[in-house]
Amino acid sequence: MCGIVGFIGKNAKTQIIDCLKKLEYRGYDSSGLALINNKDKIEIIKETGFISNIENLSNNMFDDLEIGIGHTRWATTGKVTKENAHPHVSNNGRFAIVHNGIIENYEAIKSDLSHKGYTFSSETDSEVVAILLEENAKTAKSVIENIKLTTKILEGSFSLAILDTHSPDKIFATKKDMPLFVSAGADFASIASAVVGLPHDAIQYIMLENHDIAEISLNTIKVWQNEEMVDRRVQKITKDDLNHTMHNHKHYMIKEIFEEQVALEKTAEAFSSLKPSAKKEILDLFASHKRIHLVACGTAYHACLVGASLLESIGFDCSCHIASEFKYFPPNLNDKCLCIFVSQSGETADTIGCLKLVQEKGIKCLSITNVESSTIAHISDHLLMTKAGTEVAVASTKAYNCQCLIFYLLTQAISKNNQVISIKNLKIDKILQTINQISKLSQIIATFKKVFFIGRGLDSLTAKEGSLKLKEITYIPSESYPAGELKHGTLSLVDDESLSIVILTQKSTIHKTMNAVSEIKARGGFTLVVTPFDEIQPNHEIDYVFHLPILKNEQHYPLISIIPLQLFAYFTSIEKGINPDKPRNLAKSVTVE
Ligand code: M6R
Repeated sequence: MCGIVGFIGKNAKTQIIDCLKKLEYRGYDSSGLALINNKDKIEIIKETGFISNIENLSNNMFDDLEIGIGHTRWATTGKVTKENAHPHVSNNGRFAIVHNGIIENYEAIKSDLSHKGYTFSSETDSEVVAILLEENAKTAKSVIENIKLTTKILEGSFSLAILDTHSPDKIFATKKDMPLFVSAGADFASIASAVVGLPHDAIQYIMLENHDIAEISLNTIKVWQNEEMVDRRVQKITKDDLNHTMHNHKHYMIKEIFEEQVALEKTAEAFSSLKPSAKKEILDLFASHKRIHLVACGTAYHACLVGASLLESIGFDCSCHIASEFKYFPPNLNDKCLCIFVSQSGETADTIGCLKLVQEKGIKCLSITNVESSTIAHISDHLLMTKAGTEVAVASTKAYNCQCLIFYLLTQAISKNNQVISIKNLKIDKILQTINQISKLSQIIATFKKVFFIGRGLDSLTAKEGSLKLKEITYIPSESYPAGELKHGTLSLVDDESLSIVILTQKSTIHKTMNAVSEIKARGGFTLVVTPFDEIQPNHEIDYVFHLPILKNEQHYPLISIIPLQLFAYFTSIEKGINPDKPRNLAKSVTVE
């Protein structure tokens, strides 16, 4: 869950820092860079905290150097300290490495290397790689052979960028189960953990395959697989791949919420423009499989819940699974099942693990992802793309609506319903016009010690996502429950320090949901109802109301009722002085299990 980059060319330090900033969403507890100086020695700068810290530390230094690697860290093995920040250097100073992934057998390797007299200056698993390279250099005939010998010893997952002072004009890179992209332009060569982390001038890239070893020098990229030089497919970089600016917004999260309408339109457009043969292939999957397992994590899992509910409504038998559970406690899987994997990043290790498990069993898989260059997009049998555009904020917003939309579009296509959902009729602009009201309500939300989200049916699913959003970026303890479930336990937590946010968009549930509101009020709790129904107004039981626009089709509410909840989370986070884009302890792309 770290980001790695490498750059060869003018202004290497600045380029590395710029690229690292674009990967900061992958982890931001510490960062560092290594550059080869004019005497072929390695210079290191690293520090805890945001990338701006190493930027300040290296101000006016190393501006003439033309080769280096960098890293932004999300701590897995070893605390957040300067020593544990990457790059790590071999004892003799010959090799510097940056690593993304987990070396599962690092303790055994470390003990072996310690017996041979090597010393370690960090608690990380990654440092063993630098030292193994030093040890293997004694016998290997070339750096490529050394990297091969070294990575053969490693168990777990890795993408690695390596500097070797004996080849001072090259960067070496290799990977297993972690993404790595290489790009060369007229006057630079670079590598990054994601396409978005390549330099602005990059126009094309190659995606490395597991166990590829790349030797990167200015204008030349050589890739070896099992001693053979191989050609990897060159792919074009699109404008969307590198879209990484906040424009006039203060944070990526609010920018991304404001992009929801366009993201939904683009997703709908891409779905309707699928080639007839590709669409048929996907519809055939549904025609031949009635049992569906949907697998994902976090927000994407919540989109699966919405998807399952829609697919159930047209006759499918669906189960949703949290990926980290599915892999180790799988349901009864056979060739009558279709498995659907949903992931914004397409890099979530838990989800990838499940996809591979299912593929090994020969079961058909369909993936829904937002990143075309991702591992999930690369390895899936069938693919549907959301077109949310780059999502940078840790809290997923526009990708969620787009994932839900794909399920609406699929359900319509499968049931041959010609009434294609109109994004304009979702009236998202009306919600965005109420931003002042939402911001004022958020000031109130910020005063509560705990916040519950409740709803029935489809609304209970929106409640789950609303609760995740709020706790993720405001740190206010929050839970969500189907409204009727509250009285079976959680009601004991309701008191005058709690707020219950009630999602109420389905007419048939008004009466029973309002019973839950009465039960909360009777225990001294506060209530905020999010609803399109005009007749629901503040009264002795309802403290606050937020009115949604009225939609013709009640089933479409999940696509918009989440928007005020995303905005509540955003403004509450601001109210509490938290950076909503970078909540503590989290990272955007969770590439470790
Ligand atoms: O990239 P993915 O959709 O696979 O990510 C899954 C979760 O890690 C992600 O949705 C997470 O829950 C978000 N930070 C929630 O806002």
